[in-house]
Amino acid sequence: MTERTLAIIKPDAVRKNVSGEIIAMITQAGFKILGFKMIRISEAQAGEFYAVHKERPFYGELVSFMSSGAIVPIALEKENAIADYRALIGATDPAEAAEGTIRKAFASSKGENAVHGSDSAENGRNEIAFFFSESELVANQA
Ligand code: CMP
Repeated sequence: MTERTLAIIKPDAVRKNVSGEIIAMITQAGFKILGFKMIRISEAQAGEFYAVHKERPFYGELVSFMSSGAIVPIALEKENAIADYRALIGATDPAEAAEGTIRKAFASSKGENAVHGSDSAENGRNEIAFFFSESELVANQA
């Protein structure tokens, strides 16, 4: 089934100047990019995006980190996009991420872990809508 997922290149990876390498890994894995942009979000926006983690002990750290610099949200489409993208990025903790994954290559810790990925098709659609209007998703304009 064709699915959409939201990737985010996080501030640590943007600061390391590896956004291009990460986008290359994503496109080489067969994902179609529907839209991407480089933006900086406020703490309030980061808090809203990660509201599901509000009760977690790392929430404050996560919100502060995600608003600490530029991020690159990317709307992606592919057959089985959710599972395939999560396999491509690897485990949340880079120490557990498999060889060849984006987090193995670029993440430094559980918090500063280079990239985000949606965890379900429904969240993929909602998370894409958080960052992109319909008119910014190029495939919809064909
Ligand atoms: P992400 O895929 O963006 O979704 C939630 C994020 O919470 C996750 O990646 C991690 O960056 C972050 N996270 C999860 N566990 C921890 C942790 N123990 N400490 C700090 N951040 C965490």
